[in-house]
Amino acid sequence: MTTIINDTQYLGKNLILLQSIPSTNSYAKELLTKSKPKNGTVILAEEQTAGRGQSENIWQSNAKDNLTCSVILETHLIPASKQFLLNMAISLAVLHTTRAFTEEDSTISIKWPNDILVQQKKICGILIENTISGQCLQHSIIGIGLNVNQLDFGMHKQATSILQITQKQNDVFWVLKKLLVEIERQLAFIQNEQYLKEQYLKYFFQLNQTAKYIYKEKEVLGIIKNVNEIGQLMIEIDGKIHILNMKEIKFLY
Ligand code: BTN
Repeated sequence: MTTIINDTQYLGKNLILLQSIPSTNSYAKELLTKSKPKNGTVILAEEQTAGRGQSENIWQSNAKDNLTCSVILETHLIPASKQFLLNMAISLAVLHTTRAFTEEDSTISIKWPNDILVQQKKICGILIENTISGQCLQHSIIGIGLNVNQLDFGMHKQATSILQITQKQNDVFWVLKKLLVEIERQLAFIQNEQYLKEQYLKYFFQLNQTAKYIYKEKEVLGIIKNVNEIGQLMIEIDGKIHILNMKEIKFLY
């Protein structure tokens, strides 16, 4: 396996390869408290024993089968109030990476706020953790779990992988390389909010469609209309627009 990332300008030039650690995001966090890792440092683990997901969920991934990595970014040019721009850029980068390894005609979408779905099944989860200094971000840890070669997800029927979709195995390292190129490409648009938003909404799961959700512990019909500047979901329920955070709504599909 070659471990040189040569297709990027700065991402992955410092690459930390680990066999087994609790979580690449936690490792990155510790690195930032103890040292000054280079902008674009990537931590790639063959296995995570305590992978973390959004909302304090756990992230399970078979050892060696999938991409589990974290990218450390210096993000002091991004105002804290605009941190959702980073979410949109990373979601698009993962989406285009996934697209490159799956069939052209498979439906690929971004489920709010940043799950990547193929044929309505989750192929990738993203956990972005920011530190803030004054009005701006300081560092961002971009944690990405992209399912590459895992076939069996046990009881998680809503999960899928590149292998499940295409019946083809892929080298996890190749997927990482493509991902880093795509992240660099999307980060170049970080000042261009209009473009990122337009692209993000282009792939948005269930946008303008009537679908079932759990809201206030009840099943409701809702129509996603938009996301606002800070990434909250704008959804119409019973003729009224509700502006919601992640824990307030659950998709049923
Ligand atoms: C989610 O969908 O809940 C987000 C999952 C993020 C998982 C990745 S795997 C690499 C990185 N390290 C972690 O502990 N979590 C993220």
